[in-house]
Amino acid sequence: MNIVVVGLQWGDEGKGKIIDYLAKDADIIVRFQGGNNAGHTVVFGGKKFIFHIIPSGILRKSKVCVIGNGVVIDPKILIDEITALGNKGVDISPRNLKISLLSHIIMPYHKLMDSFREGKRIQKIGTTMRGIGPCYVDKFSRCGIRMADLINLKRFSLKLKDNLREKNPLFVKVYGGKPFSFKKILDEYCYYADLLKPYCCDTVDFFYKNKKKKFLFEGAQGAFLDIDYGTYPFVTSSHTVSSNAVLGSGAAPVKIDKVIGVTKSYTTRVGEGPFPTEFKDTFGDYFRSKGKEFGATTNRPRRCGWLDLVLLKRAVMINNVTDIALTKLDILDDMEEVKVCVDYEGKDKDGYFLYELDRAKPIYKTLKGWGKDLSSVRDYAGLSPFAKKYISFIEHFVKRKISFISVGALRKAVIVR
Ligand code: GDP
Ligand code: IMO
Ligand code: MG
Repeated sequence: MNIVVVGLQWGDEGKGKIIDYLAKDADIIVRFQGGNNAGHTVVFGGKKFIFHIIPSGILRKSKVCVIGNGVVIDPKILIDEITALGNKGVDISPRNLKISLLSHIIMPYHKLMDSFREGKRIQKIGTTMRGIGPCYVDKFSRCGIRMADLINLKRFSLKLKDNLREKNPLFVKVYGGKPFSFKKILDEYCYYADLLKPYCCDTVDFFYKNKKKKFLFEGAQGAFLDIDYGTYPFVTSSHTVSSNAVLGSGAAPVKIDKVIGVTKSYTTRVGEGPFPTEFKDTFGDYFRSKGKEFGATTNRPRRCGWLDLVLLKRAVMINNVTDIALTKLDILDDMEEVKVCVDYEGKDKDGYFLYELDRAKPIYKTLKGWGKDLSSVRDYAGLSPFAKKYISFIEHFVKRKISFISVGALRKAVIVR
């Protein structure tokens, strides 16, 4: 069985936890897009792991994790991540971690470009400043540097030289910055190349040889951060949706048996952009504190709001979701009533969709809260009737089954139906 896991909101839905859970039944876990703008959290064995580039399946021994060609890699961050995991007792070697030779490398000038461009904009995106956008720009303008180049000194030097010839005048004349030193970058990146070379892999060949195995494709970010389907321009620079799973991984089109879309029981967003159901009052502080809603990558406070079923339904459509994983239900435990957005006010006949979401005024359906601690419930029957009503309301609205209900950060805090 091949499964794709994607976020159905604006990221941080709890994908890491769901991937870690599903990885037990998979053979190969592949990240197919994004970079270290992502932060996927897994809490296991009394330890908290936050994965930025390495797939969240790495804690499952005997599985193979792959960083696909659709991912952009900051080599220093990846090396730090491998080292930090090693220090926590997670065994990482070229046996269980493979990096696509076709993946693109984030360079120092990409990070600077991210902050220069964001600094100049009136309409800020709220980027994580990790150089993700500029790295994808170079990929598509055909001046990117790939893993295969990084590990070949001659090719790397040539490409770096060409890039600096074009970029240094831009940094100096347009942005008033300093030029980058060829030698300094070369030395630094040669060091990274030596460390990462053993992990490099022709993933196309690898997947072909392993085509009978069970794949788990790990998405980063969420549907409304997708470069096309998201709330453009307040999005990331890659395709976060399920259709990118195959393209961004190097696995020739395989049969996808399930697309599991992950959504929180409410909504959060980091960075700028429209968010119709956002709390404008102290309620947001309550959710932030109870749900520990601070970015796993930048530690920025996440904006919080009620669950938006209009958007969720669209995310289900875009991704062809077969099953939903509903996370953080326990965060709603103390609520007297729980709201979900079922429509927007004053909609014209074309509907409010992403291009005018900033004008959307939500219409809510109010449901009774359950006022019960759900964090130790492990089977569906053990949930309170009002929690079940909340779940079935969502299911009827989006016409999909909620097959996984997460009631805590721990691996075991999940109800499988
Ligand atoms: P991801 O980017 O989608 O993997 O999500 P993040 O890791 O950025 O954010 C999700 C946060 O919620 C992490 O701190 C998780 O440990 C935590 N979490 C996941 N599921 C649950 C849940 O059901 N209940 C609670 N209380 N926390 C959860
Ligand atoms: P995971 O995988 C939440 C947001 C940033 C910003 C926008 C663009 O953990 O769900 P970028 O750095 O890509 O140029 O930022 O996208 N963003 C995320 N928000 N979770 C993420 O990843 C995110 N990755 C990017 O906050 O608004
Ligand atoms: Mg995250």
